[in-house]
Amino acid sequence: MNRYTMGAFALVGFLMGCGSEAPPAPSTTVGEVVHPELPPLPEVSGLTPMPDLNPDPHIVEVDLVARPHAVQLLPGQATQLFNYNDQFPGPLLHARVGDRVIIHFRNDLAEETVIHWHGLRISDQMDGSPVIQTPVQPGASFTYDFVVPDAGTFWYHTHYHQIQQLEYGLYGALVVHERDFPVFSAERIFVGDDIRLRTTNNQISAFQTSGPDIGAGRVGNRLLSNGRVINGEDGDGPVTFTIPRGAIERWRFVLATNALSYGLRIRGADARVISTDGGLLPEAFALERVEIAPGQRYDFEVRPQADATEVVLEALVLVLDENDNVVEAPFVLARGTIEGETVTPEPVYPKVSLPATSVEAAGHEWKLSGGVVDGQVQFTINGVPSYVGEGHEHVLLETFEPNVPVKITLSSNVSPRHPFHIHGQFFQILERGGKPVFEPGLRDTVEVRGNETATILSYFENHGRWMVHCHISEHSENGMMADVQVGTQAAGHGH
Ligand code: C2O
Ligand code: CU
Repeated sequence: MNRYTMGAFALVGFLMGCGSEAPPAPSTTVGEVVHPELPPLPEVSGLTPMPDLNPDPHIVEVDLVARPHAVQLLPGQATQLFNYNDQFPGPLLHARVGDRVIIHFRNDLAEETVIHWHGLRISDQMDGSPVIQTPVQPGASFTYDFVVPDAGTFWYHTHYHQIQQLEYGLYGALVVHERDFPVFSAERIFVGDDIRLRTTNNQISAFQTSGPDIGAGRVGNRLLSNGRVINGEDGDGPVTFTIPRGAIERWRFVLATNALSYGLRIRGADARVISTDGGLLPEAFALERVEIAPGQRYDFEVRPQADATEVVLEALVLVLDENDNVVEAPFVLARGTIEGETVTPEPVYPKVSLPATSVEAAGHEWKLSGGVVDGQVQFTINGVPSYVGEGHEHVLLETFEPNVPVKITLSSNVSPRHPFHIHGQFFQILERGGKPVFEPGLRDTVEVRGNETATILSYFENHGRWMVHCHISEHSENGMMADVQVGTQAAGHGH
């Protein structure tokens, strides 16, 4: 999985796209067992992958360093950020399901940090939970080492002083390919974010400790797509590329905002939703638009329409118009100009089946709430706030038996939305307001809208101690977090 094999695959992909036969796969002998050689991973355009330092095709070994880094987001002064490997977003971590991934992480920031591998069902010891992992001190290192158990589009991000460190840019995308991945004419990845910059000097504006920034979460004045400012005359504009007629592409999308949710739509193409947080769907469905909340992911299959000249990925964002009315406005995140022609064989999707949803399952309730206590906004789950850090007992909300289905009804009795995340597990969304909904696929994050309930079903398959929290950093770090225990404490080393 080094650069050379990726280059070679691009060539193979090109030949296959032209209708030629792929060369027969050679085989290698590992110990006693003969393994057919795995096809190299396809290139995922949009972000630069981390160089893989390990020649073993089943091990991805990378160096990752967090440090201050200046990025030219706008004309004038460069913006001081915190980034991984001096890239914004961080480098793409790219593996195949079943691979061992070793990340040699060094913290070159002047403050502590940890990295969470959002969506990976790995051991809780490697999950980057600040409740389990002692934060990595400035100048210190930590090696994350795990096997990726599921294919899908995931991401990694700081889980320490997340309100600020996430806004400062400590995040990156993580793609785990299926063992028999469908072959497309191209794969692309887009990471959406927003950032609030001072107009005077392009620096990240001050963090409020009360008011709407805490109540609803911090929303930026600039929208970002793969680290490019896409709104305003002075921004870089959307990610651009060319796409041939006849292409069938896979577009992956990660939303890395602190708090902003938006709609996603694709114009100029027949697009289908093929994957959610936890990987491929059993059955794709046509994309009109989908709503995406902080932490969530979608993959789309994209086929340019015959009469279109471009294929455009748009964020549909609520904004104020000139009369101060809230309206929805489209912002172009990515623009593919249709150029040339190709013939693409139909991608063959692996068969996927999801855990049964029509089962008897115990019903649990998690009430998400908030209020002002001693002049401080405080968010709670079932009436209790929980915090990470000195002088705080982290709350254990519930203990679950592994592999036993549980229904949880999350409710928000106050107006802000809560994109609620469960570490180390997948679930399915069954109902909103007590009514069945069509939101298929595995999730690790569900948007609970204000004054609404959402019912999810999880089998809690992964042993360990796991954080559950709102993914709006301003909510989680002001109390809306807790832990759940799956199985016994001693078994807390994944599966
Ligand atoms: Cu993506 Cu606990 O977070
Ligand atoms: Cu919230």
